[in-house]
Amino acid sequence: DSPSARLSLSRRRLLTGSAAVLGAAGIGAAAATAATRSEATAPTVPFFGPHQAGITTPPQAHAHYIALDLRPGAGADEAVALLKLWTTDGARLTAGTSALADTEPELAQAPARLTMTVGFGPTFFDRVGQSGRRPPSVRQLPHFQIDRLEERWTGGDLLLRVASDDPVTAAHAVRVLLKNVRTLATIRWTQRGFRNAVGTHAPGQTMRNLMGNLDGTVNPTPGADVDGVVWADGSGQQWFAGGTTMVVRRIAMLLDTWDELDPDARDLTMGRRQDSGAPLTGTLEHDVPDFTRTRDGIPIIPANSHIARAHARTPAERFLRQAYNYDDPPPAGTTTNAGLIFVTYQRDIDTQFLPVQRRLAQADALNTWTRPIGSAVFAIPPGVHDGQFLGQGLFE
Ligand code: HEM
Repeated sequence: DSPSARLSLSRRRLLTGSAAVLGAAGIGAAAATAATRSEATAPTVPFFGPHQAGITTPPQAHAHYIALDLRPGAGADEAVALLKLWTTDGARLTAGTSALADTEPELAQAPARLTMTVGFGPTFFDRVGQSGRRPPSVRQLPHFQIDRLEERWTGGDLLLRVASDDPVTAAHAVRVLLKNVRTLATIRWTQRGFRNAVGTHAPGQTMRNLMGNLDGTVNPTPGADVDGVVWADGSGQQWFAGGTTMVVRRIAMLLDTWDELDPDARDLTMGRRQDSGAPLTGTLEHDVPDFTRTRDGIPIIPANSHIARAHARTPAERFLRQAYNYDDPPPAGTTTNAGLIFVTYQRDIDTQFLPVQRRLAQADALNTWTRPIGSAVFAIPPGVHDGQFLGQGLFE
């Protein structure tokens, strides 16, 4: 066992070792390709169609709502350039394909039901010289006495909603879509929200908000019902057929004082039980509330409870609610900065949403523990077919 023999043995080991390393790298690469392939078939939501995705799509776990303003001096040409970029990249990203100038294509491979939805604020129509084609109800909401609106959560020329069941996928899509248009528009506000993660509960279960309630029980049902409530028929503005309107209200929840309520007081405030989500006149979540039932002459569901006030009083007063929780870092000296990104979709804001919002602003037991701090409205143009760009009809 001479020194030279030992050397050759260790050289052999070294060589064998590096071969093993090389082999592992080879297997790793093959595995990565396989993973990529299976991820590319991960759930996707069709981008093209008569309506934009992300509205009647069952809500994904993570959503970004971003308002932008066209840069000073920008008009129709810049808006069209922006919409073409978003359409191209939105179609690619939602299919699990990297965007055109994607520096992190790896992050585009697992769409996890990624959707991109684009909207036009009231001011957008003036900026692009199309004031006469604004759907009439798409204008700033009236002031409500409960409002404590902050400029930093209010208004916007454009709305970009990006949602996915995977937070990394969503963050990457947002990054790509925003950086590509930075010479055309600036960010006005960003609101990030979340719902229960996929896999935590059975599919289809109503999400819980951070007050603890099941939130979203009473909503139009998928199919013809929701379609009738949400999609504009073009009777007001022909280019808008297949579009919808969106209201985004940022509503802070005052969780520190909500904590002081006992369970009965909470249930009387909502008109529903926190544990089961059932109305106070029923036992199961989807039991229909009976607002006329009394005990000792007193309504079982209080007349000023949230659901008694919010419940549709005419067939017109219905809209699709799409709520997301937010839970941001609290300012120094406080413990919570949480609430709802409360979003609704309806054909017409004036006839469907406003009567309910007015009633809640007048009286709603819940108002003691909530505070609207942001408000914006958008026209969501109809969907696109391959070869078109989002909102094209407005410019024809
Ligand atoms: C129902 C929470 C704001 C409209 C409900 C329910 C909860 C809830 C827990 C019962 C379950 C359900 O049907 O989803 C909240 C919270 C809010 C808020 C925490 C604020 C932070 C609003 C606003 C509106 C609204 C601003 C409209 C302007 C409705 C409607 C219902 C409802 C229409 C269904 C009523 C029914 O027919 O039973 N909300 N909500 N909510 N809410 Fe809200």
